[in-house]
Amino acid sequence: MAQVIEARIGDDPRGLTEALEDGGLILLPQTPFEILQDEKPLMDPAIFSGGSKNVSYAPDSGHLGGTCLEGEALERCRAMVARYATFARTLLQQVAPSYLATAEQRRTSFRPGEVSSRALSPRKDDRLLHVDAFPANPNQGRRILRVFTNVNPEGRSRHWRLGDQSFEAFARDFSPRLKSGPGPLAATVLQTLKITKGRRTPYDAAMLQLHDLGKLDADFQARTPQQEVHLPAGACWIVYTDSVLHAAMAGQHAFEQTFLLPPEGMAAPDKAPIRILERLLDRPLG
Ligand SMILES: [Fe+2]
Repeated sequence: MAQVIEARIGDDPRGLTEALEDGGLILLPQTPFEILQDEKPLMDPAIFSGGSKNVSYAPDSGHLGGTCLEGEALERCRAMVARYATFARTLLQQVAPSYLATAEQRRTSFRPGEVSSRALSPRKDDRLLHVDAFPANPNQGRRILRVFTNVNPEGRSRHWRLGDQSFEAFARDFSPRLKSGPGPLAATVLQTLKITKGRRTPYDAAMLQLHDLGKLDADFQARTPQQEVHLPAGACWIVYTDSVLHAAMAGQHAFEQTFLLPPEGMAAPDKAPIRILERLLDRPLG
C-alpha cells in the first residue's frame, strides 16, 4: 500500500529502505535544493525546445537536451542540473546508503513546466494512475527509484495521487491480460532499429503493458482507492515509481533524478516487480 512516510536526514536508513521497498513514498519536507540568483531566469518554461516537457541531463556524458538555450545560458543550466544530480545522489546516500554500491545514476531532469495544463493521449498522460516503464530504455528487471524535489519559486505544492493498492494486487488483476513476448527475434529487431536502447526483455514488455492497461482502463482509474498527496516547495521525495501507483496532477518547477537498481541491491529482492511477476506468471522474465 502506498504510504507517505515523513522523514528527515539522520533517520534510521534501514527503516527508510524497508519502507521504500514496501511501497512507501519517503517525504523529506525540509530538504531544499537551492536555486542560485543567476539561475532564476532558467525557471521559465520558455527554455524548452520543441515539444519537450523535461530538460534532460546525462550525468555520464554531461549532455543536456530538451532546451533551446545556447551559449552561456546553456552552460549555466547544465551546471545547475549537474549540481542537482550530485544533490540527489547525496540524498540517496543519506536515506538508503546500502543502494549506492549497485545503483546506476541515470537521467536527471529539470521540469519547469506546469503539469496540469498538458494535453496528452491517455497513454502519455501521467495524470492517470500508473507505474513507470520506459519504452525506449529497457530496465531488464532493474528497479526505477526516483528522487524528486519541488523548487517552485512561489511556494506552490506539487499535487500527486497515490493508489492504495500494492503492486502485487495491481499486477494480479491485470495478469490475465498480459501477453508474453517479445521473442528473442523481435527483441533483436527493436534493438537493431534503435527503437530500444538495449534488449527489451519479457519483463520490460510486461511492465509496458501494465503501464498502458492501467492508464487505459477507466474502471480501474475510478475504482482504485487513492489518496491526494501535496508535496510542498522545498521538499524532496523518494519513491520506487515502477511499483507505486502514482499520478502527477499539478505543479511546476521540479527536479528529478532516476536511479536503476538491480533487485540484488535491495534489502529484500523478493519485493522487486520482476520477482513478483515471475511468481504470478510462473515463468522467467529475464
Ligand atoms: Fe510516473
